[in-house]
Amino acid sequence: MRNVVGIDAGGTLTKLAYIDEHDKLQFKIFPSNNFLLVKNWIEQNLHIEEIGLTGGRTEQLLSVLKTMKSIQYIVEFEATIKGVKHLLNNEGHSIQKSIITNIGTGTSIHFMDGDHHVRVGGTGVGGGTLTGLSSIMTGVTEYDEIIEKSLLGNRESIDLFVKDIFQGMEAPIEGHLTASNFGKVNILKDAEHSSNDLIATIQALVGEVITTLSIQFAEHNNTEHIIYIGSTLSDNEHLKKVIGNYTKLKKRQPIFLENCGFSGAIGALLNKIEQS
Ligand SMILES: Nc1ncnc2c1ncn2[C@@H]1O[C@H](COP(=O)(O)OP(=O)(O)OP(=O)(O)O)[C@@H](O)[C@H]1O
Ligand SMILES: [Mg+2]
Repeated sequence: MRNVVGIDAGGTLTKLAYIDEHDKLQFKIFPSNNFLLVKNWIEQNLHIEEIGLTGGRTEQLLSVLKTMKSIQYIVEFEATIKGVKHLLNNEGHSIQKSIITNIGTGTSIHFMDGDHHVRVGGTGVGGGTLTGLSSIMTGVTEYDEIIEKSLLGNRESIDLFVKDIFQGMEAPIEGHLTASNFGKVNILKDAEHSSNDLIATIQALVGEVITTLSIQFAEHNNTEHIIYIGSTLSDNEHLKKVIGNYTKLKKRQPIFLENCGFSGAIGALLNKIEQS
């Protein structure tokens, strides 16, 4: 088992999962625009003899690896669900039926019911939107800095809330809900917006779009739980808060799993181990 690595070559990040000498799962991340780093890692870890592989950049990675090692490919959605089931099990959840929302570069949404699972939809709004908009609007390009700044920001001067519209009257829905993401910008024309505020607002836009869609699929499929995964959630307390609160408001149960960015890599690893 220790001679296997699971690799998920995603649009932005390539995730590795492997088992160390203490039988503990370990993880590694490389940017998907430099597959030589992955090749170097495999060459440096001489005990690695087999590779479980998944993700949309599989072919691109293979063309750089040019390896003779034994490789087992698994379709991304299969790998992701396999990994999620492993993480659920590890954390003691016994959920049979759930929506699984994978917030990667883009967002892919799945419905799982026991052994059956199907991709139900998705949106181009995802982690790439968070980093892309942050970069264009504030010049902040590093993911860690985006996360830090969002925690210091405030949406009040940028987002238009229901209570801002229904002033002095009773609103038909809860006042603190967003009526229009970025909708206050052209109403309060002279307001200055700090990069912290802009990034906090971008996080909310991304989180709310994804949650709205996930909730609709949960309602349609009659599921109580929504499991949110993907590296966009890693150390991203602000996004988890936006998503978690909105999901609960809509009477669904949000679940955030530790190491959820590695679901695909774990699935690819387990698949290869099973086949060996
Ligand atoms: N160290 C990091 N560098 C860059 N982005 C990061 C980092 N950590 C987390 N992210 C966030 O995670 C997102 C990528 O998530 P993930 O790795 O799940 O997607 P992916 O597998 O590369 O893409 P896809 O599944 O859509 O092909 C980025 O867009 C960014 O928002
Ligand atoms: Mg992915």
